[in-house]
Amino acid sequence: MAILSPRSTNYERLEGGMGPSRLGNKRFAWKKFAIAAGVLITIVWFFGPREPRSFSWSPTKGTDYGKNVDTAPLPGPPMPAPTKPESGSDKSKPVGNPTADTPASFETDPDPTKTTHCTKPHTPGAPLVQYALMIDAGSTGSRIHVYKFNNCGPSTFYEYEVFKMTQPGLSKFKDKPLDAAKSLDELMDEAMRVVPASLRKCTPLAVKATAGLRLLPGSQSADILEAVEKRLREEYPFQLVEKDPVVIMDGKDEGVYAWITANYLLDTIRAGSPGNGGKAPGTYAVLDLGGASTQIVFEPMFSKPDTALVEGEHKYDLEFAKKNHVLYQHSYLGYGLMRARNHVHQLVEFMASIRLPDEEGKEPPAVVGNPCLARGTQRVVEVEDERSGVKRNVTMNGEQIGSFEACNRVVELVMAKDAICEVKPCSFNGVYQPSLLDTFSSGKVLLLSYFYDRLSPLLPPKSTITVQTIASTAKDVCLGHTSWLNRWGSHADVMKDLAGRPEWCLDLTFMYGLLRLGYEFEETREFEIGKQLQNTELGWCLGATLAMVGGSLSCRV
Ligand SMILES: *[C@@H]1O[C@H](CO)[C@@H](O)[C@H](O)[C@H]1NC(C)=O
Repeated sequence: MAILSPRSTNYERLEGGMGPSRLGNKRFAWKKFAIAAGVLITIVWFFGPREPRSFSWSPTKGTDYGKNVDTAPLPGPPMPAPTKPESGSDKSKPVGNPTADTPASFETDPDPTKTTHCTKPHTPGAPLVQYALMIDAGSTGSRIHVYKFNNCGPSTFYEYEVFKMTQPGLSKFKDKPLDAAKSLDELMDEAMRVVPASLRKCTPLAVKATAGLRLLPGSQSADILEAVEKRLREEYPFQLVEKDPVVIMDGKDEGVYAWITANYLLDTIRAGSPGNGGKAPGTYAVLDLGGASTQIVFEPMFSKPDTALVEGEHKYDLEFAKKNHVLYQHSYLGYGLMRARNHVHQLVEFMASIRLPDEEGKEPPAVVGNPCLARGTQRVVEVEDERSGVKRNVTMNGEQIGSFEACNRVVELVMAKDAICEVKPCSFNGVYQPSLLDTFSSGKVLLLSYFYDRLSPLLPPKSTITVQTIASTAKDVCLGHTSWLNRWGSHADVMKDLAGRPEWCLDLTFMYGLLRLGYEFEETREFEIGKQLQNTELGWCLGATLAMVGGSLSCRV
């Protein structure tokens, strides 16, 4: 990983950003002056006139706020307002559905073999109603998505999904491929319950495993995939797709499918979607932040002559609803939130351990001051020495030093912004990326996964989120309890969450670093955050399914 590159500039930058340093008296006097000035500014800031807090929300809305907010403040022109389902259960009822007769779930659908949108398909010969099955074989569990579509318009229109999960994931079955295959029976039974018998033969089915399965040794993963395919073919009436029915998905496809899902639900890529007059792409950029990696997918627009997307792995030519989209995508492995946390802790611990020149041979400190933990909080983390691989437990302590600015300095080192850039321009870690300012200047941006999980509890619903919002939120979180009381004092659940998650300061600071320094979004760039739209999870599954049903339909004989 790029973080401990022994370049002097890095160390200097770190020295400047963190804690005590061995500097001369003159500098020290400066420091005193700076502290005094800082205190003065703070006092002025606290007591001086300033705008009221930019938002307020009524305490009665308390339940809307915090963990229960599962839906995003997204504008979705012609679609039903997002509803609020509890994970997995489909008890929720649609809210503000513009076409009241549209069944938004299987439970409210009067006749799953028909649709309430029309009585005849748009294209003669096309099926009126179409189901499709997608199994997401993830590392922690397998999930089935049963999607219902209709063909009332010129292209397939998504109606709703039924979703079920089973644990553990396929990879837990290692050398028992048949058991792995059988673990999906529960999911397939759900598909049998939902899909009407008359439509099963023409219901395409695919299984896509995420990268975890690839880590199994030898032929174990291939054996599992083969057993799954065999069982699905022999035991169930659905139509396994011809091309790659059961595969381990490419990271590249995952990002692009998530882009399709979001843009489909936001109605920017369907046939007849409003364009943007060619000035800016009407599509959303989709940024995902997982535990191990982070992804960006967007449709750049090159307005200057002689500029275009450089050829390479990052380029993705997509045809969707008879329109071509040239997408830029990249997945940064190692820049997921959990990996970023590890890197920050490693770096902080490393700096602490080399600060004792006269005490060589002494045990490294067991308690380390860490600016990325909220002030007044601490946490024990297991830190691994990159060279020796030796792990030890270190207490990271935010005590008086937790601060967004100082943490941001550490994050800057983790980002490897100054890594060698072979094909310009680069985002970070030497990765080519067309400038978002130039090629996506007024495009809309959607943030998913951890971005949503960490930001939504701290912000009032439907608030405008900019890079600055994230910075100011991080600032308040990093400053600890007094600052929390100021901002979130009337929300007991938020206060409890903040106290229970000392690394929230780190998480938000990393997000800021990623967006501002990494991708180089302007301070004022607006973001939307989301997890679900139209009762449907924003992830790769629907996108992959749309790509699957978009082609020619084949039925089982
Ligand atoms: C660190 O602490 C955790 C929890 O107490 C423990 O499970 C783990 O084994 C410890 N690791 C080391 C290297 O001591």
